[in-house]
Amino acid sequence: MMQILRTVAELRTRVRGWKADGKQVGVVPTMGALHEGHMSLVRAAQRGCDRVIVTIFVNPMQFNNPDDLTKYPRTEDSDAALLAREGVDIIFAPTPDEVYPKSFATSITVAGISEPLEGTMRPGHFEGVATVVAKLFGMTQADRAYFGQKDWQQLQVVKRMVADLNIPIEVVGCDTIREQDGLAMSSRNVRLDPLSRAQAPALHRILTRAATAIRDSGDVATVLETARADLRAAGFTEVEYLDLRSAALLEPMARLDAPARLLVAAWIGGVRLIDNIPV
Ligand code: PAJ
Repeated sequence: MMQILRTVAELRTRVRGWKADGKQVGVVPTMGALHEGHMSLVRAAQRGCDRVIVTIFVNPMQFNNPDDLTKYPRTEDSDAALLAREGVDIIFAPTPDEVYPKSFATSITVAGISEPLEGTMRPGHFEGVATVVAKLFGMTQADRAYFGQKDWQQLQVVKRMVADLNIPIEVVGCDTIREQDGLAMSSRNVRLDPLSRAQAPALHRILTRAATAIRDSGDVATVLETARADLRAAGFTEVEYLDLRSAALLEPMARLDAPARLLVAAWIGGVRLIDNIPV
């Protein structure tokens, strides 16, 4: 039977029991409003671990925009039904006060890799992510944690933090799950009006085309400029970034001379979408 727990004390008691029985524990950190992308992480955790905890916590510390925090979809009842059907052992859904008591004073900064792209556009975002993820790792004491490549920079930030702080957990990165038309699944997609939803798949199409062009021509700057213009022509009102970066360190690349990632953030119909693919 799946349990929904709200306090760290209850969670610790359950996990202690599992560990005494020699069980391997997996955690899938989420902010809820679950979709097939999240469920693919849950299934990966179930394949790799004996017991699975899904955390649901809309983390105020990582929202740089108060409006985005208020509008973030909260659907705990349907999330719980999905996770129960999937055979998850525990949902850990703490209150903000449980995670951030009044005395709370610590923040984790992962320098370098947190700074470009999302870091520039969303100041403080990765401090919030790194801090809450470190706390969730400490709370759950999991052996393995599952993250989506959809949030590529976040995955690299978490891996860096775990290595730097010697946190005893294995971070597993999982493929991006997409709609039939290529749009990466996201909890924010429900905010797209019908026209924007129809135009949004251009994001993945243009990324894919640009990746091929970079491999074929090697003229990175020109390909990126064309792709940015294509996005605007496809209905995106603002392209915050569309850039080729080294895959692990996210350093700028003028030429394709190492494993790379093409990453994008752009606005359509008042919604901010991100995506990335390997090159
Ligand atoms: P959230 O946006 O809910 O995402 C939870 C996890 O699901 C992340 O690891 C994310 O990369 C993954 N995910 C989202 N969409 C996906 C998709 N289409 N395919 C595969 N995986 C996908 O990311 C967060 O929450 C938060 O920052 C969190 C890590 C929970 C810290 O608060």
